[in-house]
Amino acid sequence: MANYLAFVFYFQAFGIFTVLCSVKPNIVYEWETVDLVWPNSSVKDEYIQSKKFIPENNAINGIKMYKDDIYLTIPKLKDGVPFSLVKVKNDTSKNPLLIPYPNWDIHLEGDCSNLRLIQSMEIDPYTGYMWIIDTSFVPRANINIADQCLSKIIIWDLENDVEIHRHTFPSSVTGPGMFYLNDIVLDFHSNKTARWAYISDTLGHRLIVYDRELDISYAFRHASMKPVPEYASITIGNVTNVYSPLGINGIAMSSDLKNVYYCPLAGVGLYRIPTAVLRSSKSSNSDFEREVVHVGNKMAQSDGIYYGQKHNLYYSTLGPRSVYQWSMTPISDNVRPGRQTEIGNDDRIEWIDSFAFDESGYLWFVSNNLNTHFSNETVKGSSNFFIWKLFVDDSSYLKFSDDTSSAPSYSPGVYVYIFVFLYLLVTC
Ligand SMILES: *[C@@H]1O[C@H](CO)[C@@H](O)[C@H](O)[C@H]1NC(C)=O
Ligand SMILES: *[C@@H]1O[C@H](CO)[C@@H](O)[C@H](O)[C@H]1NC(C)=O
Ligand SMILES: *[C@@H]1O[C@H](CO)[C@@H](O)[C@H](O)[C@H]1NC(C)=O
Ligand SMILES: *[C@@H]1O[C@H](CO)[C@@H](O)[C@H](O)[C@H]1NC(C)=O
Ligand SMILES: *[C@@H]1O[C@H](CO)[C@@H](O)[C@H](O)[C@H]1NC(C)=O
Repeated sequence: MANYLAFVFYFQAFGIFTVLCSVKPNIVYEWETVDLVWPNSSVKDEYIQSKKFIPENNAINGIKMYKDDIYLTIPKLKDGVPFSLVKVKNDTSKNPLLIPYPNWDIHLEGDCSNLRLIQSMEIDPYTGYMWIIDTSFVPRANINIADQCLSKIIIWDLENDVEIHRHTFPSSVTGPGMFYLNDIVLDFHSNKTARWAYISDTLGHRLIVYDRELDISYAFRHASMKPVPEYASITIGNVTNVYSPLGINGIAMSSDLKNVYYCPLAGVGLYRIPTAVLRSSKSSNSDFEREVVHVGNKMAQSDGIYYGQKHNLYYSTLGPRSVYQWSMTPISDNVRPGRQTEIGNDDRIEWIDSFAFDESGYLWFVSNNLNTHFSNETVKGSSNFFIWKLFVDDSSYLKFSDDTSSAPSYSPGVYVYIFVFLYLLVTC
């Protein structure tokens, strides 16, 4: 009974909190243009003169955290982006230098086995392995894929700085036609070693699965992964752009590992598919069709999404400059969507790209003005790339308890919640 009351009180406290305050997220780092840690200034001069490094073309996109370090991606979608994966050490500067990760040489041009076009990665907190997806080349219509380096996934050990494994995607999985490996979530063995990766293919409108144990990849297609023409146009401030080709983009894994959520960029629908379907290469598109659920509609189009331990799905609204929390209340085997609540907003947010969690209850995210970046309308003299954090008192889907088969338990003492409640009331 006491536990039950604590539970109810807890939700009420947070309900009032979220109604009363949509919090201002804090800017941790910001850059007008990024700069790197170079071996020496003559190397930097050479990169700038030869246009191997064009600072304003380097847009930070992806973010994930491990221990005290932040890992960021800079997809090579414009010229002059020499390093697609970088790291920021815990830094007191507001605009720190980026460190090419894992090393300089693995980013050098002209070698198919190197890191090439990285949009996203995910980190398995148990092993410290980073799973990096590499589309490898800028997708364009009428490109001859046979002339291009193949796309791949690389598993990299952050603790020991060594490659663990790599898998090259056969063109039967990524083709035919255009593809773009956009975002990735991990799914686990009972022994806590990530086994499956689920990847959104934004241009191929597919959900690609990589099974590490069998070292195979396969893909699913469904109408829900396609862009919706009526939602292709997005206005942020006074700039409107059209994103007609962009399908499945945001992808998130429930913290009980039972469902994968996804949404097309051009669209507002949120869908979920049981991992039981994705885990088997024998599942067909019709199995997918039978099991997929339209969860509901978000408030607006979004890019990356993320799922926390407390069964909240986090997403941003690209037009309105906000972060939303969507409660997915666990009820036995089903997941019923709850309320969508605005939990943070700021006028300086322009295109939230991706999310990460630290271990202190903060949701971190990148905003990067991607809309003006690609339409070449970036305003000079102000910051373009921001790393934010917002306290949400939640943690990543990857930080689960030993029992991965059941919902997380809410059992802390009632006094903690009374304290939290009073604290929130005072700070609101
Ligand atoms: C700068 O670093 C590069 C690469 O490590 C090296 O080849 C070069 O000799 C260095 N130049 C100077 C002036 O130290
Ligand atoms: C960096 O260090 C400060 C002070 O130790 C800490 O408060 C902060 O959370 C750290 N940031 C990250 C990203 O680890
Ligand atoms: C977990 O299982 C996988 C697949 O059977 C195996 O490769 C891996 O070594 C196991 N990990 C541990 C820590 O036992
Ligand atoms: C759009 O808004 C920005 C910032 O307020 C301003 O600098 C820019 O001139 C505006 N552009 C147009 C086309 O109105
Ligand atoms: C932006 O500039 C680049 C390089 O100058 C050019 O290739 C691209 O077509 C431009 N994009 C738009 C939307 O104007």
